[in-house]
Amino acid sequence: LSPAPGAQPLAGRHILVTAGPTHEPIDPVRYIANRSSGRQGFAVAGALARLGARVTLVAGPVTLPTPVGVTRIDVETARQMAEAVEAALPVDAAVMVAAVADWRVEAAGQKVKKDGGAAPSLTLVENPDILARVAAGPDRPRLVVGFAAETEHVVDHAIAKRARKRADWIVANDVSTDVFGGEANAVHLITADGVESWTRMTKDAVAGGLAQRIADALQAPA
Ligand code: CTP
Ligand code: CA
Repeated sequence: LSPAPGAQPLAGRHILVTAGPTHEPIDPVRYIANRSSGRQGFAVAGALARLGARVTLVAGPVTLPTPVGVTRIDVETARQMAEAVEAALPVDAAVMVAAVADWRVEAAGQKVKKDGGAAPSLTLVENPDILARVAAGPDRPRLVVGFAAETEHVVDHAIAKRARKRADWIVANDVSTDVFGGEANAVHLITADGVESWTRMTKDAVAGGLAQRIADALQAPA
């Protein structure tokens, strides 16, 4: 059922969204990163705002305009994203769409130079799991939603991820076909009740459908 145009079922709710990649510096001029355009996360933030929510969007480095009615906090690294998320709590719901780099680099203070010898090795350190922290923390939002980009066993991996991270919902994305930077998405919504496979649709349509589901969930008695 579609809401009446202009309906604001999320009025009075504060929702946190993470989006985009993180960049993890190797030295002052280089970084490693996850592939992410930020479009799906920005679309989710915009769709939630259109349903009346106060939206805080913590965004990694992307080149996208801020959706209307959204408060945006720009960050670069996973640790900065974790801090900004922590500072935004408490919220009614958190939707973690960001493609967070799983590891950061023990970065060099100065530009690493080619010296004619062996190529340098990178030492990687695991980043904090922002979603798992929020879901297990003292300010746990009523609804915690994660995204999972998978290339195989999409639904099985997402079901396992939902349990491991204590998320309420996981939106599982099949990225074995061309999704990154593209317009369309084929997603499965994994909840405590099971798996819903949505037809292939635009990222804006995924965002609109998810925002409406979030509104329904927050309207239900706690
Ligand atoms: N996530 C996060 N912080 C991290 C890693 C992931 O908040 N350090 C969030 C993502 O924003 C997403 C969800 O966790 O909502 C799933 O991310 P994903 O990379 O698929 O999960 P991982 O646990 O990192 O597993 P994998 O080994 O498949 O990358
Ligand atoms: Ca990961």
